[in-house]
Amino acid sequence: MATFKQRVFSGVQPSGNLTVGNYLGAIKNWVGLQESHETIFCVVDLHAITVWQDPDVLRDATREVAAGMIASGIDPKKSIIFNQSQVSAHAELAWIFNCVARMGWLNRMTQFKEKAGKHKERASVGLYVYPDLMAADILAYQATHVPVGADQKQHLELTRDIAQKFNSDYGVEFFPEVEPLIFGEATRVMSLRDGKAKMSKSDPSENSRINLTDDRDLIAKKIRKARTDSEPLPGSMDELEGRAEAKNLINIFAALSGRKAGEVCSEYEGQGFADFKGDLADLSVEVLGPITEEMARLMADKTYLDSILREGSDNADKVASPILREVQDIVGFLRP
Ligand code: TRP
Repeated sequence: MATFKQRVFSGVQPSGNLTVGNYLGAIKNWVGLQESHETIFCVVDLHAITVWQDPDVLRDATREVAAGMIASGIDPKKSIIFNQSQVSAHAELAWIFNCVARMGWLNRMTQFKEKAGKHKERASVGLYVYPDLMAADILAYQATHVPVGADQKQHLELTRDIAQKFNSDYGVEFFPEVEPLIFGEATRVMSLRDGKAKMSKSDPSENSRINLTDDRDLIAKKIRKARTDSEPLPGSMDELEGRAEAKNLINIFAALSGRKAGEVCSEYEGQGFADFKGDLADLSVEVLGPITEEMARLMADKTYLDSILREGSDNADKVASPILREVQDIVGFLRP
C-alpha cells in the first residue's frame, strides 16, 4: 500500500441547532487532534439539503456550526474550517463515486432506512446517495483519519469500500484506507426525554436537547427536567439495563467531567436522581456556559465568521483541486 500523509477530516450538518450531542460526540474530540495532525473541518451544507431547508435558515445554521466549532476550541489558524458547497471537488467527486458504489451497498445503509422511514419512495435521491458524498468529502483530501460518532461507522465502512473498488477498478493505489476515530464516553448522547432516541437537532421537543445557543439558566432547567426513574443510582453501569434515561445522564456527566461512567456511578451509588441532576446541572453550566457565551459573541459578528469560512474554502480548495485533477486523469476525463 502506498503511504499517505496523516490528515484528519470531519463534518457537521447545518440542519437545526447544534446540541450538546454534537459537542460531546464530535467537536470536543477534534480539538486535541489539531496539535498532532493536519485537520480539516467542514460544515456539510450539501448534505443538509438532502432534506429541504429554508434558505435563510440554512445560511444562519452554516454560520452557527462554524461558530460552534470555534467556540469549542477549533482554531482557524490551526485547522481549515469551511462549508462544503464552496469547494466544488466534493460534488464532482461524489458523482464519480455514484458510479463506483453499488445499489446493493447503499441499500444496506441503516441511516437511510431510519431517515426515509416508511416513505422510501418519497425520499430525495440525494438522501439515498448521501454516503457517496460523504466518501467524496473525505477522499477529496485523501484524508486518513475521520473522527465521528458511533452512528457514522457504517458510512465510513462504505467509504473504505468505495476507495478500494476505485483503486482496483482503475488499477491504482490512489485513495487511502480511512481509519475511523471513535471516541469514548457518551459518543452517543441520547434525548433528555427518551433515552432510546438520539439527541437530535430536529426533535420537536425543545426539552429533549441542550442547544449550544442555550444560556446558563436554560441549560440548568433542561437538565433538572430531564426524564429519569425513581430508582437510586447503582454502583456500576452494568446494573443500568433497561434504564436508558438514567444511563444517558450518567454518560453525559462522565463526558462533561472527563471521567469514566463507572466512576461516576460508584460516587453516587445509592443516591436518588434529584441530587445527581442538581450536580449535573451545575457541571453542565460550568462546562458549556463559556462555550455558549463565546458562540453568541461570534454569531453577532457575521463578517468575521464569513471571512473564516471564505479563507477556509480557499485553503480547502488548494488541497482538493490537485487531487481531483489526478482523479480525472485516472478515470480518463480529457483535460484539454
Ligand atoms: N454524516 C455525518 C453526520 O451526520 C456528517 C458528515 C458528512 C461527515 N460528511 C462527513 C462526517 C465526512 C465525517 C466525514 O454526522
